[in-house]
Amino acid sequence: MHFFSSAIAAAAVLYAGVSAQSNNATGRPKVIMDNDWSTAGFIPYLMAVDAGWDILGLVSDTANSWALQCGLHALATLERGNLSCIPVHKGADYPMLNTPEIFQTWELLHGELPWQGAFAPENTTFEKEGNDPTSGDPKRIVREALHEGYPNTTFASNDAAWFMIEQVRKYPGEISIYSAGALTNIALAVRMDPDFARNTRELVIMGGYIDVNLLEVTGGYLQADINSDINLKIDPEGSKIALSADFPNITVVGNAANQIQMNQEMLDEIHEVSNVYTDLVYNYYTDNFPAWDETAAAVMLDPSVVTNSTNFYIDVGTSFHSPTYGNIHAYQKQFMPKKQKLREVNMIVSVDEKRVKHMIKHSVQHPKSCQDFRDN
Ligand SMILES: *[C@@H]1O[C@H](CO)[C@@H](O)[C@H](O)[C@H]1NC(C)=O
Ligand SMILES: *[C@@H]1O[C@H](CO)[C@@H](O)[C@H](O)[C@H]1NC(C)=O
Ligand SMILES: *[C@@H]1O[C@H](CO)[C@@H](O)[C@H](O)[C@H]1NC(C)=O
Ligand SMILES: *[C@@H]1O[C@H](CO)[C@@H](O)[C@H](O)[C@H]1NC(C)=O
Ligand SMILES: *[C@@H]1O[C@H](CO)[C@@H](O)[C@H](O)[C@H]1NC(C)=O
Ligand SMILES: *[C@@H]1O[C@H](CO)[C@@H](O)[C@H](O)[C@H]1NC(C)=O
Repeated sequence: MHFFSSAIAAAAVLYAGVSAQSNNATGRPKVIMDNDWSTAGFIPYLMAVDAGWDILGLVSDTANSWALQCGLHALATLERGNLSCIPVHKGADYPMLNTPEIFQTWELLHGELPWQGAFAPENTTFEKEGNDPTSGDPKRIVREALHEGYPNTTFASNDAAWFMIEQVRKYPGEISIYSAGALTNIALAVRMDPDFARNTRELVIMGGYIDVNLLEVTGGYLQADINSDINLKIDPEGSKIALSADFPNITVVGNAANQIQMNQEMLDEIHEVSNVYTDLVYNYYTDNFPAWDETAAAVMLDPSVVTNSTNFYIDVGTSFHSPTYGNIHAYQKQFMPKKQKLREVNMIVSVDEKRVKHMIKHSVQHPKSCQDFRDN
């Protein structure tokens, strides 16, 4: 689907400074965005819209909460901004092997994660206070946590992996896959269609921290939290399948995703313009968390924001009996394991903070809506 008129694409190039490949809908970069969407988690798709990219669809996964609840956040936040022309496909409820019970058992053996995401113990009192569901039944919906409103629109399908496969078959070599939550749906697509990965354009992920163990023990709760790696650790097997598949290019926005803090000053600056999205960011974006998913989006939309990066081969730990279950391990070529086909990835080390912040701010303060793309 092509949502944007050429005028919008041209304007996006002008304002955001992003070099979209063409002003015309057919030539514009295509993306499918997979995430554990939340009340204030819409900035990555607004950034893609702002850059003039063609969002074929959003996909939800189980990482911070269950895929159903996260998908409802995607539907609702799109609806609030008149962006419901972008379809939402619900992803898999469970990771490849992990369940709350198995995850919590692993924690008893190897230590609790500061942020347990969807697999934190169920607490219905906490949910009623307006927090997304964790553990228990993946099919339950917590309306109180949909602060942006309950969606009046519905999922385009419950088969996210199949949706991604169909789109990649339709546009071989053209689609960027963005993943800022767990890699479950992508792993499923990789296994269902052996040509899926190689027929995409690239995979860009948020997550995949390296050498941060020292940071986990030399600061407080927040520092330990932001250096744990829930996106990969909630589905170690899915992460390994996705990150060893033959995508033409894999970009890992790991440590660099912690570079930019969304502090009160940044939230105030965003709120200098009041609209549905800046209000939600101002009220619900947790102060002092890094702009994780937004940084990964910026790197995908405009690789020239990268100020340092490096390349190496990676594996993902899949030994349950290990504290590094679900963490990446890096190799240089000469020492790479011989009996596994590992992939070389681009690890982003740092980004241009000023430019990424500008992209974030512009996308939220001047959001496009479906009315802007109607002529297409
Ligand atoms: C749009 O881009 C496509 C692919 O690059 C090209 O084939 C087509 O001619 C372009 N259309 C217009 C109206 O420029
Ligand atoms: C759905 O419609 C109801 C009734 O008009 C409205 O109150 C609510 O905000 C809508 N949901 C969203 C996410 O816009
Ligand atoms: C959405 O569309 C309605 C109807 O055209 C309009 O009144 C409203 O201002 C729009 N909202 C946004 C956020 O664009
Ligand atoms: C559940 O959430 C409530 C409300 O936030 C809190 O007071 C309580 O301590 C939590 N229970 C557990 C077992 O963590
Ligand atoms: C892969 O992506 C990175 C980051 O966007 C880019 O720097 C690099 O040139 C790409 N490599 C190929 C082979 O396309
Ligand atoms: C880029 O990052 C690598 C890996 O951390 C580091 O060794 C190198 O010094 C950095 N380069 C620059 C120019 O900062």
